[in-house]
Amino acid sequence: MNEMDLVREVFHYQSRFAGSTMVFKVDFPVTADPAFPSLMKDLALLARTGFRVVIVPGAKEWIDSVLLEYGIVSRYAQASAENAVAEGAAAEDTTTAPLRITSAQAMPFVEMAAFHVATRFMTALSANHCDSVIGNFVRARGLGVIGGRDMENTGRAEKILTGPMGKILNLGMVPILPCIGWGPSGKPYNVPSDEIALAAASALGAVKLFIVTSGTVLNPGASASGLIPAGLKLPADIETGENGRIIQLTPKETEAVLALNTPVWAQNCAQTTGMQNSAQAETAAAAKAAAELRLALAASRAGVERIHIIDGREEGAVLRELFSNLGAGTMIYADEYEAIRPLKTEDIPDVLRIMEPLMQQGILVRRCEEDIQEKKKDYYVFGIDGRAHACAALHKWEDSPGSTAGEIAAIAVDSAYADMGLGSRIVRFLINRAAKEGMRRVFVLTTRTQDWFETLGFKESDPAALPEERKKTYNSGRKSKMYTLDL
Ligand SMILES: CC(C)(COP(=O)(O)OP(=O)(O)OC[C@H]1O[C@@H](n2cnc3c(N)ncnc32)[C@H](O)[C@@H]1OP(=O)(O)O)[C@@H](O)C(=O)NCCC(=O)NCCS
Repeated sequence: MNEMDLVREVFHYQSRFAGSTMVFKVDFPVTADPAFPSLMKDLALLARTGFRVVIVPGAKEWIDSVLLEYGIVSRYAQASAENAVAEGAAAEDTTTAPLRITSAQAMPFVEMAAFHVATRFMTALSANHCDSVIGNFVRARGLGVIGGRDMENTGRAEKILTGPMGKILNLGMVPILPCIGWGPSGKPYNVPSDEIALAAASALGAVKLFIVTSGTVLNPGASASGLIPAGLKLPADIETGENGRIIQLTPKETEAVLALNTPVWAQNCAQTTGMQNSAQAETAAAAKAAAELRLALAASRAGVERIHIIDGREEGAVLRELFSNLGAGTMIYADEYEAIRPLKTEDIPDVLRIMEPLMQQGILVRRCEEDIQEKKKDYYVFGIDGRAHACAALHKWEDSPGSTAGEIAAIAVDSAYADMGLGSRIVRFLINRAAKEGMRRVFVLTTRTQDWFETLGFKESDPAALPEERKKTYNSGRKSKMYTLDL
């Protein structure tokens, strides 16, 4: 991609997301990394250019070191917040990350450590002329006794005070939420920052949750960015990109990864209670990646459209993930991937119904049931309530030797569902699909929809640039224009 294309892409994403809320949950080791000032420069830039930025600083390792310094031993229990809420839940949930049991003795130190970390963010934002507020935006409730174990001052996020946060965001300021929540009587609780990030992203209707991880911190040998699968078992059909990076996952795929990695939790619990060797460090790194996926899945279920797991120590990772098609980390999509699925034979009547008026007007090339059946594996539909309401196909063509190009074709949206984003979402899905399959470019042939493709980043090109095999079937009488997007 050349420099101008990059600038255009940036403007495209900027206009698409400006004004929307994004929550950044940042691992503590990232704040101690030399790359932290760059990360904060980027977050300040986003806040100053109209994004509503919310920061949830993780403080676990800092709290550990403060407690150690004051001779307070941390105890952990594997108990999920959901378990705590369920009346009478007794058994420990071994599939969730262990939680610190914050004793009354430890609580003042935990508060001190949590606010210390939060002020690091405030300081870094101030250095970039960005105003921020560290606030008591989390209403908490004590976890109580779980499985016979008193969780003491460990709490869960009961409510996010969106009213005051909204006012602060409207002023262009950045709310910072330390890992503390307050009960109705003002009693402070230690609430896991993952849980605060999830509750805040959901309550604020965030379009994105960024899980800014220190990824390989327990596994310094690994060099990949984003989600590191080292030690993390992956289902065979999950595709990884360069350096083993998983570019994106559907919620279903995320569930499949988690199902394979459940036993990791038990070992991670042992690791956090003191056992240390390199094999355990790798297991713990995998457990951390699984914890991030678990948070991403929960956020996706809570309605956050996109969750991005990025390595906060990598220069410009947030901006690259935000402003480019392929990103820099791992994205968990909640929206289109749930709705966009491969075409099934029983969808064909719906697809033909959607296409018929467009074929009559000559906007689409005429196709019959057999044509679609023959290329069935190339087609995807946008399903709503079990019925297809939009469709599109991705045909693969041999391009120059060793590279392939994707033709996005047969795009049609049910007229009753026009202007609801279905068309652009299915096209973006196919662009991502093509990138995932290693295609170098995607193109479309169109007679009347060029403006729309331009808004999606496609550029007009000479049909002479069509793959050789495609040229043979190019209908020169139709005079379709070719639009291309390099991947
Ligand atoms: C083009 C098409 C796929 C768009 O689908 P959609 O789900 O309605 O589009 P989206 O909701 O993603 O985008 C809507 C925007 O695109 C604009 N748009 C829709 N059709 C357009 C066209 N032919 N040319 C330019 N802009 C168009 C809308 O005005 C709207 O603009 P706005 O956001 O400024 O209000 C749909 O109109 C369609 O099925 N058209 C006929 C088939 C076709 O042209 N297929 C491509 C042939 S290769």
